[in-house]
Amino acid sequence: MAEEFSALLKPLHESESIEQCVGKYLWLIITLPITVWFMLTFPIHMPNCHLQQLYLPSLDLISNTHDPNITAINPTLFFDLKLENTMNDHSIRYGDINLIFYYGPNRNVNIANYTVPGFYQGKEKTAYRRDVVDTHDLPWNEAMRKVSNGSTAVFRVDLVAKPTFRYWFWYSKKRWLRVGAKFEINATGKKTNKSAIELKSAAAYRDHRLSGRVGIFVLFSVLLPLVL
Ligand SMILES: *[C@@H]1O[C@H](CO)[C@@H](O)[C@H](O)[C@H]1NC(C)=O
Ligand SMILES: *[C@@H]1O[C@H](CO)[C@@H](O)[C@H](O)[C@H]1NC(C)=O
Ligand SMILES: *[C@@H]1O[C@H](CO)[C@@H](O)[C@H](O)[C@H]1NC(C)=O
Ligand SMILES: *[C@@H]1O[C@H](CO)[C@@H](O)[C@H](O)[C@H]1NC(C)=O
Ligand SMILES: *[C@@H]1O[C@H](CO)[C@@H](O)[C@H](O)[C@H]1NC(C)=O
Repeated sequence: MAEEFSALLKPLHESESIEQCVGKYLWLIITLPITVWFMLTFPIHMPNCHLQQLYLPSLDLISNTHDPNITAINPTLFFDLKLENTMNDHSIRYGDINLIFYYGPNRNVNIANYTVPGFYQGKEKTAYRRDVVDTHDLPWNEAMRKVSNGSTAVFRVDLVAKPTFRYWFWYSKKRWLRVGAKFEINATGKKTNKSAIELKSAAAYRDHRLSGRVGIFVLFSVLLPLVL
């Protein structure tokens, strides 16, 4: 034991020390980028998007004294959007977020487009965006006929954005966020589903590449020190 300690304390031969240094730094030079790259590929969860509320005053036949002549329709639409970053290790930088509203369950009649200016969202933070949009081309008569019958008019909203995700001081490349949902409006002018409507992606995206990357990382971190 004592001999081993004294060997450790003894200054190393110069040739040995250089070799060791080169080995050490080479190992570092090779593993550091791989480690950083690995950290950058930590699973990214797209933000949760909910339509908290949507209100079309002109379809609100309950609070409005309805004018059967429909002389002047208020073409506005109120929306309340909730964006949630559920990750505790990544913050999000949104570029412009495009909201596209449609009349009908499919994307046939585009009634309004709105751009939420990009913003930065910290870890586990929730943002709300509310505004009023002027609609166009909404078939009001048809929609009113439906709601006045005690039935509902179906609408759809799509959200399209291309956020980047920050881990420490590294930004991921931009990723598409495309989600949407259809919802029903009744004679209250509001959506019939009282709970916030989750905007979902048509084709759920899952990062299958991650398990492969973990494998490569383990391979590198185990094999490299052995080789060097
Ligand atoms: C609807 O229009 C008709 C004819 O233009 C008019 O006589 C009537 O008073 C209007 N009704 C209302 C509620 O404005
Ligand atoms: C609204 O956005 C949709 C989808 O990006 C586009 O096809 C449509 O032309 C836009 N409408 C207007 C009026 O800008
Ligand atoms: C009213 O709704 C019922 C079903 O709820 C439907 O059968 C009927 O055709 C509707 N009438 C009109 C005028 O839309
Ligand atoms: C509209 O929907 C809300 C929420 O589901 C409900 O409370 C209300 O009674 C409905 N109103 C009409 C006129 O259908
Ligand atoms: C209302 O919306 C919530 C959230 O999107 C959903 O889970 C629920 O099934 C909806 N309810 C109805 C009756 O559609």
